[in-house]
Amino acid sequence: MASKTILDADAVVRALQGAFARGAARAELLQIVASRLHAAGGPYTGVYLYMLHGDDLVLEIFEGRPTHHTRIRVGSGICGQAVAERRDINVPDVARADGYLACSLETKSELVVLIRRRDEILGQIDIDSDTTNGFDAAEEAAVRTVADALAVFL
Ligand code: SME
Repeated sequence: MASKTILDADAVVRALQGAFARGAARAELLQIVASRLHAAGGPYTGVYLYMLHGDDLVLEIFEGRPTHHTRIRVGSGICGQAVAERRDINVPDVARADGYLACSLETKSELVVLIRRRDEILGQIDIDSDTTNGFDAAEEAAVRTVADALAVFL
């Protein structure tokens, strides 16, 4: 039986497919992801699309609270660690995370899912949650489905 997730990943993928089919530009595709994930509610408090430009992650689109972390060096913060270690990072409690860069004092947990095309890392979907342990394995998998689809259309 499929696990129930807050995010309807298939609906987001369909929206991306539709936008891609009518020639949507990169910014619109990123906006669809940020808007749809944020609109899912629940743990999706802030959704940040950081794209890799050389050794920097650059914030291109977000929904939710603004952040002053608009450029993050690879290796820095949870976001930069994910790229340096080439892995998704799910932090159930940011108060216990080494190297965490705070965006808001309200944030309790964070999920970073890489946007990859084969071996190339294009960027990441970074989600802040005001809920501790905001993202279980099924929710993380749903975000990964969206990230993998986005990588195809970018
Ligand atoms: N918390 C992130 C920084 C990005 S903001 O949360 C949007 C980090 O530790 O890299």
